[in-house]
Amino acid sequence: MRKQIAAANWKMNLTSAEASTLLNEIVAAPIQLKANQQAIFAVPAIYIPLAIEKLANHPQLLVAAQNCHQKTNGAYTGEISATMLASVGIKHIVLGHSERREYFAESDALLAEKVNAVLAIDSTPLFCCGEPLLIRESGKQNEFVEAQLINGLFHLSAAEIVKVVIAYEPIWAIGTGKTASSEQAQEIHAYIRSCLANKYGNDIAQEISILYGGSVKGANAKELFSQPDVDGGLVGGASLVATEFEAIINALK
Ligand code: PGA
Repeated sequence: MRKQIAAANWKMNLTSAEASTLLNEIVAAPIQLKANQQAIFAVPAIYIPLAIEKLANHPQLLVAAQNCHQKTNGAYTGEISATMLASVGIKHIVLGHSERREYFAESDALLAEKVNAVLAIDSTPLFCCGEPLLIRESGKQNEFVEAQLINGLFHLSAAEIVKVVIAYEPIWAIGTGKTASSEQAQEIHAYIRSCLANKYGNDIAQEISILYGGSVKGANAKELFSQPDVDGGLVGGASLVATEFEAIINALK
């Protein structure tokens, strides 16, 4: 059975004291996770040790990084490698968020290298894809997302791709309050799964978790997550409020 995941993406938010308070609230919240469910917290890199310490006694509450460099080490001032993240206990790394693609010019080819770097240290890439508004309006979202998958992921072997979590995040829904309808989410998630099935076979496609991201909140999570091909969410704004994120976690199927 594939995992159902609520992933928090804190982005570049919160002071250390605020991060500490939020994590305290999360661990004190009445969160019930089934065996196939996880909550993952992609915190700013500087708070990773803090988050690991706070969540230490909660095996289904995991800490993730928001990005990594594609090389193992070297003269890359300001960067952090997957190897370094693994050395402090990180097992999940978000890659290819639309903000990284847009503001930091991350190409599919670069992301393919980052995916390899994360898999090489036996961690899980949370690989983001999703179309901008103009593409959605032209009805070409399936082709757009498929190209991101082909160029960023489909060089992987079957044994490797099953370790990846995919997050579909339509750019027009991120931070805009404009959520894709559950029908729109299901339609493209099913398409993503069909691309995986065509490339790797249906058994493997059924194993891969596909998260939805874009203005997920407590009030719409249950409806989105109830769709058969939506295996949870990648959540920005609402993950900064403990009660909201708690409701999102409790909406997992
Ligand atoms: P949002 O962000 O939930 O604030 O729309 C989602 C994301 O960017 O991962």
